[in-house]
Amino acid sequence: LTSESYPNIERLASFKKLAADDMTFFRSILSESEILLATEDEDLALFNEDWMRKYKGQSKVVLRPKKVEQVAQILKYCNEQKLAVVPQGGNTGLVGGSVPVFDEIVLSLTQLNKIREFDPVSGILKCDAGVILENADSFLAQHGYVFPLDLGAKGSCHVGGVVATNAGGLRLLRYGSLHGTVLGLEVVLPNGEILNSMNALRKDNTGYDLKQLFIGSEGTIGVITGVSILTPPRPKAINVSFLGVDSYEAVQKVFVQAKQELSEILSAFEFMDLNSQNLARKHLKDVPHPLEDEYPFYILIETSGSNKEHDDTKLEAFLEKAMEDGTVLDGVVAQDETELRNLWEWRESIPESSQAGGGVYKYDVSLPLKDLYSLVEAANEKLNEQGLLSETDAAKPVISAVGYGHVGDGNLHLNVAVREYTKDVEKALEPFVYEFISSKNGSISAEHGLGFQKRNYIGYSKNDQEIKMIKQLKSLYDPNAILNPYKYV
Ligand code: FAD
Ligand code: MLT
Ligand code: ZN
Repeated sequence: LTSESYPNIERLASFKKLAADDMTFFRSILSESEILLATEDEDLALFNEDWMRKYKGQSKVVLRPKKVEQVAQILKYCNEQKLAVVPQGGNTGLVGGSVPVFDEIVLSLTQLNKIREFDPVSGILKCDAGVILENADSFLAQHGYVFPLDLGAKGSCHVGGVVATNAGGLRLLRYGSLHGTVLGLEVVLPNGEILNSMNALRKDNTGYDLKQLFIGSEGTIGVITGVSILTPPRPKAINVSFLGVDSYEAVQKVFVQAKQELSEILSAFEFMDLNSQNLARKHLKDVPHPLEDEYPFYILIETSGSNKEHDDTKLEAFLEKAMEDGTVLDGVVAQDETELRNLWEWRESIPESSQAGGGVYKYDVSLPLKDLYSLVEAANEKLNEQGLLSETDAAKPVISAVGYGHVGDGNLHLNVAVREYTKDVEKALEPFVYEFISSKNGSISAEHGLGFQKRNYIGYSKNDQEIKMIKQLKSLYDPNAILNPYKYV
């Protein structure tokens, strides 16, 4: 999709088009290395196109300030001039929220990337928004702490980006959501004011908790420039096991057993269906799958704690029991760090494997646990009914519709892997998927947000009153609507 092919959306005439006087201003506050301008040879594709290569804007300029004050000057100017702006972190977002729709200015946080301070007693980290998640975690590792969020995009996504999307990730089950771990934020508002709310307090009951509004706001009401976050001690002992089961009912049964038997050391409980593993098999080519035989469903369980012997004994007892009663049909436990990474790879490579055949339609949904997998079945049925799906026939647009996700959080990922993005597939899936979710009282976004993809579908998860308040807040903070326009609000 490019902006020319976006249906029913036109560039808002009220936004100014970038002109020479704007560049003169930007050059007066930023150095050469802080401005990227589109030229004949440079189309800024890295900033205009999203990770899925599904959404493509046409921005002519990327601003990459190194200081918070510059962010404030940029926004103040853009607000006065009515220049639209897209805040961008690592550009790993999966709903088309991080790229321009038309010619919006990209405000990249990449160069605002310093660790500010760390308190080794409380475990509170303060850093710039543009610090890459993996870098924040490596820094914390030196102090015996861990970032309370981990996800497949950690090598590229920013701390500010994960906060702006309220990302969930692989260990939410253990460390909770960013709404709990983020203690403070520094945010530049569209009018250039800096909201300094970089608290380092676990408890603060003095009125509205303003930072919460920006967590998950997807760059629509302010640009996050600093994050203060509570980090837990780094676990000394980690175990990972990879299991095969014969039904989704068995996945649920193992989840209950794992909570009961592993309790405080359980740190991840992920499930994957056979189709998702078949895509991963193709993608990982020569790497042998952890389990020799095929199973309809797989589970990855991670434990982490402070005493290896204790954790080993618990995990062993749990696995013995689950295999004895026939719930788990086969399984392996990683014996060293390499095997542990390898087992995780079969889970973490699913996003890339789903994308590898040409493109992917992604749905990240919350559903009651008992209904979690029914969406994948319904989507397969629908795609088959319409004759759109074939793993082998290259004339059909859909390769496979796969399910996996964070069972511990009631969060399913439905990925529809396609050979190319087509209107037929989109029409078959939307609003069908959203209606299905709504009929089960789920949420159309568990973690990736609404962005551009779901801009017309917020009504499936929020009622009229809620949408009214969202709009009121948007116009309070961003009356000229310059921040991330054409997206969900
Ligand atoms: P971007 O993609 O650059 O931006 C995302 C949104 O936030 C945009 O709307 C943007 O405007 C806004 N934004 C970014 N930075 C700022 C800022 N400083 N201030 C204000 N607004 C800002 N998500 C999960 O929840 N769980 C997962 O397990 C997970 N795994 C992933 C695995 C892969 C391989 C990939 C590609 C993505 C995954 N994601 C996951 C998606 C997830 O949303 C992003 O990885 C991450 O949260 C986005 O961070 P980012 O810095 O790349 O932000
Ligand atoms: C995941 O759980 O792997 C992420 O949310 C990313 C994705 O589903 O593509
Ligand atoms: Zn996820």
